[in-house]
Amino acid sequence: MDSYINLKNIEIEELKHVDLDRVNVNCNVPDFEPQRQYYYMAKCRESVRAESERLGHPLTCAVITFGCQMNARDSEKLLGILKAVGYAVTDSETADFVIYNTCTVRDNANQRVYGRLGHLGAMKKNNPHKRIALCGCMMQEQSVIEKLRKSYSFVDLIFGTHNLYKFAELLCAMYESDRMLIDIWKDTDAIVEQLPVSRKYPYKSGVNIMFGCNNFCTYCIVPYVRGRERSRDAREILREVEHLASDGVKEVMLLGQNVNSYGTGLADGISFAELLREVEKVEGIERIRFMTSHPKDLSDELIGVMKESDKICRHLHLPLQSGSSKILKAMNRRYDKEHYLALALKIRREIPDIAISTDIIVGFPGETAEDVDDTIDVIRRVAFDNAFTFQYSRRTGTPAAAMEQVPAVEVTKQFDRVLSAVQETARERAALLKGQTLPALIEEVNEKDDSYVVGRLSNNTIVHLKGTLDMIGTIRRIKLTECRGFYYMGVIEHG
Ligand code: SAH
Ligand code: SF4
Ligand code: F3S
Repeated sequence: MDSYINLKNIEIEELKHVDLDRVNVNCNVPDFEPQRQYYYMAKCRESVRAESERLGHPLTCAVITFGCQMNARDSEKLLGILKAVGYAVTDSETADFVIYNTCTVRDNANQRVYGRLGHLGAMKKNNPHKRIALCGCMMQEQSVIEKLRKSYSFVDLIFGTHNLYKFAELLCAMYESDRMLIDIWKDTDAIVEQLPVSRKYPYKSGVNIMFGCNNFCTYCIVPYVRGRERSRDAREILREVEHLASDGVKEVMLLGQNVNSYGTGLADGISFAELLREVEKVEGIERIRFMTSHPKDLSDELIGVMKESDKICRHLHLPLQSGSSKILKAMNRRYDKEHYLALALKIRREIPDIAISTDIIVGFPGETAEDVDDTIDVIRRVAFDNAFTFQYSRRTGTPAAAMEQVPAVEVTKQFDRVLSAVQETARERAALLKGQTLPALIEEVNEKDDSYVVGRLSNNTIVHLKGTLDMIGTIRRIKLTECRGFYYMGVIEHG
């Protein structure tokens, strides 16, 4: 059959346009990526088609994301492959194939997964053809795998963060096996480009610029489950951003655990600030965001680039974690209270309309009420526009897990103090925008009242206004008429 395609002869750029039904799956499996995964996608299509014929309906799938933007982006990669092999995407857990993309940064994330998994198991009892897969950060922990093996044997496929790019291959293996299939890698250097992605939003997208983390903050599990830091080639990043722009994307969010150290280890050694300058040049992209900045690595060059830019949003997420120099040292954050304050206030001086948000942990081992006073002092002096406050969660295997823990009642008490301090500054900061007219990207129709739409300002503030579906994905000038605590009501400014 000469109309068959042999993937070995296809250029990487053309792979995404290949008709998978014409791929020859009877030849040898390509031993290089990403061609190998396209081979498995073609093969998997046959299994999906056969099963769908047997069941008498198109197969549906749902990917449920727990965790951060990086996990959300990974879920879009999984969905890209699921669509390519012939699944219809839903967001209901009644789907034929359900995947949980898990998070393990705090214990409550793990507990949520176990809770919901119990329900999935019950659904599978009534519906034996249902398939269940688990992936993401939680799967990189040995103790989790043991528990799943023992008590959740109905799960069909388990894989981790390092071999996500092999999803098509794993899917094929799942179709050929009737036992729980587990494939977890400890680490990898591989960054496989040009696999299909299915975006959640047509007008905005995350873009990975680096993977992993080398910082080893003593409370944090991420370096253990995401592996060593590695930056993606700048040309690949730009190629992706250009592609997104040509596909109608207006806003990109550059993703990494510590974007300020982007480029370390790359041959051409480009800095994060330089990368931003290049992304800024991509026509069609109107807004650029990034996450997360580590205060120890945030350069003056970056502040300069942000200040001059028309596209980089007026928002910086700069996790503080604690305002106490003693606790910061124990956390291995490698900055102290004074450094953080000086940096945040410099940014406020240089870019007055910027919003600064943060993450704060309350109840780290050894933290006293005086340490929390320091945290509250920083909150008031920086006047955060928004803050995510977390109670410290003990993560097995991290250095802080072995330190003496703060009693839970004390943590709750201190947590409430921190929470009211951040709510106070957030309210004050939000109120400052009243009466201004600012551009907002219209993101969605209001869930409760479909005569309203929801927009986002450059500084990340949410605004609700009268509007219609066709406005989604457009940037409009909105007059901010009424402040409701942390968000605004507004009206479109015509003309
Ligand atoms: N790389 C980012 C944060 C990733 S995790 C950074 O360094 O800023 C997101 C947030 O979860 C962290 O900023 C921290 O505030 C919180 N976090 C991480 N580990 C935690 C733990 N063990 N307990 C409570 N919160 C934690
Ligand atoms: Fe965790 Fe620290 Fe790395 Fe952030 S920088 S992911 S908090 S170890
Ligand atoms: Fe969670 Fe993994 Fe992100 S642990 S916060 S999903 S990197």
